[in-house]
Amino acid sequence: AETGCLSIIVLGASGDLAKKKTFPALFHLYCQGFLPPNEVHIFGYARTKISDDELRNRIRGYLLGERSSSPSEDVSEFLKLVKYVSGSYDSAEGFQLLDKEIAMHEISKSSQEVSCRRLFYLALPPSVYPSVCRMIRKYCMNKYIRYFPADLGGWTRVVVEKPFGKDLDSAELLSSQIGELFDEPQIYRIDHYLGKELVQNLLVLRFANRFFLPLWNRDNIDNVQIVFREDFGTEGRGGYFDEYGIIRDIIQNHLLQVFCLVAMEKPVSLKPEHIRDEKVKVLQSVLPIKDEEVVLGQYEGYRDDPTVPDQSNTPTFATVILRIHNERWEGVPFILKAGKALNSRKAEIRVQFKDVPGDIFKCEKQGRNEFVIRLQPSEAMYMKLTVKQPGLEMSTVQSELDLSYKQRYQGVMIPEAYERLILDTIRCDQQHFVRRDELKAAWEIFTPLLHRIDNGEMKPTPYQQGSRGPTEADELSAKAGYVQTHGY
Ligand code: BG6
Repeated sequence: AETGCLSIIVLGASGDLAKKKTFPALFHLYCQGFLPPNEVHIFGYARTKISDDELRNRIRGYLLGERSSSPSEDVSEFLKLVKYVSGSYDSAEGFQLLDKEIAMHEISKSSQEVSCRRLFYLALPPSVYPSVCRMIRKYCMNKYIRYFPADLGGWTRVVVEKPFGKDLDSAELLSSQIGELFDEPQIYRIDHYLGKELVQNLLVLRFANRFFLPLWNRDNIDNVQIVFREDFGTEGRGGYFDEYGIIRDIIQNHLLQVFCLVAMEKPVSLKPEHIRDEKVKVLQSVLPIKDEEVVLGQYEGYRDDPTVPDQSNTPTFATVILRIHNERWEGVPFILKAGKALNSRKAEIRVQFKDVPGDIFKCEKQGRNEFVIRLQPSEAMYMKLTVKQPGLEMSTVQSELDLSYKQRYQGVMIPEAYERLILDTIRCDQQHFVRRDELKAAWEIFTPLLHRIDNGEMKPTPYQQGSRGPTEADELSAKAGYVQTHGY
């Protein structure tokens, strides 16, 4: 285990991500004893010229979220660990000052020079990643060691957030710029969906259960849907969103990561590299996306946002079918669907099985066997299956085998995605982070489609806020084989 002083530097400390996600996650880690006050110091860095106390006041209100039972003394104690340094993202001066501050803390807290750890969390827009990484590399590296495996002591790591580029070329450029400065084991690319409890459960579910092993293939599965819905629009983020759109914001990263875990082959072991090798392989087996297997939508009123251009062609909804060219999945459509301003907020995976051959019960009336993994809200897994309708008649009905986390694991706290992922960065576990070749393979799948949309060759269909999205999307799913089931 690693001990010794740990400095966590949140760059972009006054931004939304830092306030809403990064600092609260650090606070919860602190409350659970993962950030011991005798070892840890947290630095906020941003351009705004404010004092330590002003930063503390800005983040204080975000720390006690709905799931927090921590008393307010904890908040005050935690905030004592937070300091602020202001500077620009490309000035030597700012980063030299930051380095001085970190070093002062290290000297005060560390008896062993070699064990100092520096974690840089870039809660920043990607346009400044290269310059910030250059500054860190030049001025703020752990002084005693450049890079060693964690068990030898100190390290410097950088955590970066999506979007990692806008297409294949820009992502590759970004990767090589950062890659010249840091080695891959020092770079943690966050996709927060990988920190969600039920996403982390996918490996266990698939590879530790005899039930699923023989069924998880083209012989038994008809289609797979991976769905993300939000019941609010791009409020306040129109400027960012319009440049990226729903495919870059949700599908190319979050849904594609889930897709990998559903579709990949069994890894040789649980070592991060083995898992990530399998993800890359399945991504590389995805066939080019066909235009007729894409539906785009834009909610009515999206362009009313003053930061969105009047003629914006950006989709806020998309359904895209992915097809895998391999022995397990040939012919099985993976329907990836994401939308903003829809009728509900939900993220789920729906694995739909083929009909029973030679059916004597007319099961098709009730629908098919379906295995649903609900990532949020209210984590759950349930299997829809046909049973006898209780009673004197011999008729059938569709029912559920249901594992709802709230009921089954009462009182067990499910950690926030960011909390878990930040802890992984400290523990040097890259399993739930995106590797460079994985990122490249993900962009390869979507770049041709994205370029066609960007060039105005494909246009989104308008849909009403609070609806299910364009009706064409349901038609496309049905055409791909999805059968609406009853019940849940
Ligand atoms: C972010 C997207 O990555 O994920 C947002 O940029 C989206 O647009 C969010 O709202 C969804 O995350 P979650 O964890 O609330 O499903």
